[in-house]
Amino acid sequence: MNTRKPFFFDSTLRDGNQALKKPWNLKEKEFIFDLLLKLGVQAVEVGFPGSCDMDFETCQKLASLANDKTVVCGLARAVERDINLAYDAIKNAKKPRIHTFIALAPFNMKYVLQKEPDDVKKLAIDAVKHAKSLIGENGDVQFSVEHFGDCIDNMPFVIDTLKEVVEAGATTINLPNTVERTNPMNFVKRVSQVVQELPENIIIAVHCHNDLGMATATTVESYFAGATQLEGCLNGLGERAGNMNIYEVAVALHNCGVDVPLNLKEIYETALTIAEKSGVPIYEKAPLIGLDSLAHRSGIHQDGAIKTKDMEKGAYRPIHPSLIGRDDEKVGFTSQSGKTAIYEIIKTAGYPITMEEAIRITPAIKEAAEKVGELPTRYITDIYFKEVFKIKGPFELIKFSKITDGKFRVEFKHNNKKYNVVGEDNGPLSACLNALSKAGFPQKLIHYEQVAIDGEIKGVSADAMTGLKREVPTGHVVTCRGLHTSTAQANILALFNGLNLIEGLK
Ligand code: KIV
Ligand code: ZN
Repeated sequence: MNTRKPFFFDSTLRDGNQALKKPWNLKEKEFIFDLLLKLGVQAVEVGFPGSCDMDFETCQKLASLANDKTVVCGLARAVERDINLAYDAIKNAKKPRIHTFIALAPFNMKYVLQKEPDDVKKLAIDAVKHAKSLIGENGDVQFSVEHFGDCIDNMPFVIDTLKEVVEAGATTINLPNTVERTNPMNFVKRVSQVVQELPENIIIAVHCHNDLGMATATTVESYFAGATQLEGCLNGLGERAGNMNIYEVAVALHNCGVDVPLNLKEIYETALTIAEKSGVPIYEKAPLIGLDSLAHRSGIHQDGAIKTKDMEKGAYRPIHPSLIGRDDEKVGFTSQSGKTAIYEIIKTAGYPITMEEAIRITPAIKEAAEKVGELPTRYITDIYFKEVFKIKGPFELIKFSKITDGKFRVEFKHNNKKYNVVGEDNGPLSACLNALSKAGFPQKLIHYEQVAIDGEIKGVSADAMTGLKREVPTGHVVTCRGLHTSTAQANILALFNGLNLIEGLK
C-alpha cells in the first residue's frame, strides 16, 4: 500500500502534443498550460526542446510563466545536445526538471538502438550525470526506462542500471509501458520490484500507454504497488491509442479513498476544451467525460439511478456527476425504458404527473419508442398531453356556461345521447358535480389542485391547469387533469377527462 500522496505528472503538452495531427503553437500551448494549472497537476512536461525551434521557444515561455508549486519539465534523449537544450529551455522555471530517457528492453537495444546493453547503460548514466551537473539546487533529474513494459527477461540488468542512474543523480525513476502489450499485473509486479530495490527517497513514476485499453488499470495498480508519480495526458491524448487518461486515474483513486491533489470539479470543462483545442473528439462512451457516459436507458437502471440521484454514491454510476463538474446525468427513454423514466422526464420538463399517470401513459410512449428509438423530451410530453388531457371515451363536453351566480349549465353527450342540465352550488366545479349527479352520473371528488406552470403550454396560459383526484368505483384513486385559459373551464375539462378515464378502467 502506498502511503504517499499521488503526484500527477501531465504530458499533454509533450506526449499528447507529439501525437496531434497539428501540434500546438506557442499561443495554444500557453492556453493549455493554464488549464493544467487550474486542474492543479503537480508537474507539467512542457515539450521536447530538442525537437524543433518552436518547441524550444514554447518551453522557454511556459517555464517563465510557471508558479512555484509546479514542476516544469523538458524531455531529452540521453544525448548531450538534447540535455543542453532541455536545460536552456526550462532553467527559468521555479522548479525545473530535465527528463532524460533511453530504452533498456532487449528488443529495442538490439534492433532500434543497435547497441550492447552495457553501452546503453553507460549512455544512461552519462546522460543523468550531465543533466545533474546543469540543473542546480531548485531542479531535479528524471530518468525513464523507455519500454520498461518489455523488460520482462532482463530485470536484473534494469535494476542494476537504475541503481547506477540514481547514484548519478536521478531522483525520479519513470517506468513507462511505452507499448501496452500484455496484462496489467505483469507490469505492476515489476514496478513493485523496482520500488523494493531502489532507495526509499527515490520517486517511482509510471507512464502507461493505452494500446489495449488498460492504462488506467495499470496506473492505479502501480500506485498501490508504490509508484507515486502518475504520468498521463488530458483526455488520454498521446501516441496511437494514447496515454493514461488523468481523469480516470484521479477518480478511481478518489473512489478508493486516496486524497487526490487535483481540482476534480475542473475535469469536465477541461475535457471539453481539450477536445476542441486538439481536434480529437471525445467518443460518446468515454468513461466519465463521454456525452453518454451518464445516460440511463434500461428501466431497471433508470429506477435505481432516479431513486439515488441525490446521493454521493448512487446506483448505476461511478460518481456523483458534480464531482467532476457535470450536471447532465440523463434518463433517455427507449423501448427498454420504464415508468420511472416517464415520471422523471415529465417532472423534469416542468409538468405535473403522478406515478399512476406515468404507469397509465407508459404503453403509448413505449409503442412510439419501439418505432422511433430514443424519444426526445418534446415527443414524450406531446404524448403526455394527449394521454392525460384529452382522454377519449363515451363522455363529451359540449358547453359549460354560467347562468347566474351559483347556477351553471352543462351540455354534454354520453354515448351520443345529449344532456343539458343545470347545476347549482357556490362554485362552477361543485355546480357541475351537482348537474352530473342530476343527470345520473354522481362523482366523488377527493382532492382538488390548481397547478401553476410558468410560461405557456401548447399555447394555453399556464395558470389554468387543474388536477383532480377521483375515486374510481373499484376503490382506487385516479388523477385527472384539465387545461384551459379559464380556470373554471379547466376544472370542468378535468372532470370530463376523469369520467372517460374511469369508464376506460371499468
Ligand atoms: O512512452 C514513453 O516511453 C515515453 C518516454 C519518453 C517517457 O514517452
Ligand atoms: Zn509516452
